[in-house]
Amino acid sequence: MSTPRYLMCPPTFFGVDYVINPWMEGQIGAVDRQRAQDQWESLYQLLKDDLRAEISLVAPREGLPDMVFTANAAVIDNGVALVSNFWHPERQGETPFFAEWFQDNGFETSLSPCVHEGAGDMLFWTAPDEEPVLVAAAGIRTDPSAHPYICATLNRRIVSVRLVTNAFYHLDTCFAPLAGGRMIWYPPAFDEASQETIRELIPAALRFELPDEDARQFAGNAVGLPGAVVMGYAGSKTRAWLEGEGFAVHVTPLDEFLKAGGSAKCLTLRLDSGLV
Ligand code: ARG
Repeated sequence: MSTPRYLMCPPTFFGVDYVINPWMEGQIGAVDRQRAQDQWESLYQLLKDDLRAEISLVAPREGLPDMVFTANAAVIDNGVALVSNFWHPERQGETPFFAEWFQDNGFETSLSPCVHEGAGDMLFWTAPDEEPVLVAAAGIRTDPSAHPYICATLNRRIVSVRLVTNAFYHLDTCFAPLAGGRMIWYPPAFDEASQETIRELIPAALRFELPDEDARQFAGNAVGLPGAVVMGYAGSKTRAWLEGEGFAVHVTPLDEFLKAGGSAKCLTLRLDSGLV
């Protein structure tokens, strides 16, 4: 099995400096920088030393506090990087720095004419022994017009879903594909039709519905590795389901990042394939 590779960005300039999602409300200036640094380092070490992933770093930039959330840098598929075109002006300055990193690191890099927020809103789900399906969300950040563009560029089957709550504004806040076709999710974040689409796509035995409390603690923002799951929070039911499926569950506190509306998965971008 190949070593998973991730892109991360040190939280040197991380903080809540503006409000672009409900989690950030009332949090301007409230991040404890040292605690954020320590939490980020624990995540980094867990992935690198305990789980033997390979981590690349992109240099953080002053004035771009959300750059730490590398999941939003691009959609990655097989050496191709479709760099994000952010909805909010506050994050648009990240695009050239991410694009530069992908170019310098050998990715076939392209900038998107459509608004999309990378692996925050587009995630591969793969059934055992089947071709990966790109589950793509729109509704809050990513524009629906990006889906056909991404589908045509990557030549992948794409299944579009719609997010309907501001609290779960990216797909990766409420839907986490895991190894072996398994998946944890929070249905109330999706419109009825999308819930149906997901239930049709993914067999019931492979999916788990997160309790409200877990969803609010961003348990759905989980990193899936072969045989393991990394998350900032797991309630007892969620943990029991994951362990019952044979996963080693690694919980590492990331509550400083929750103040900006992020957790484990947003702080990483899978580079080797985008697949679990
Ligand atoms: N404050 C950031 C934003 O609202 C958080 C991004 C979290 N990233 C993610 N992939 N969910 O854009």
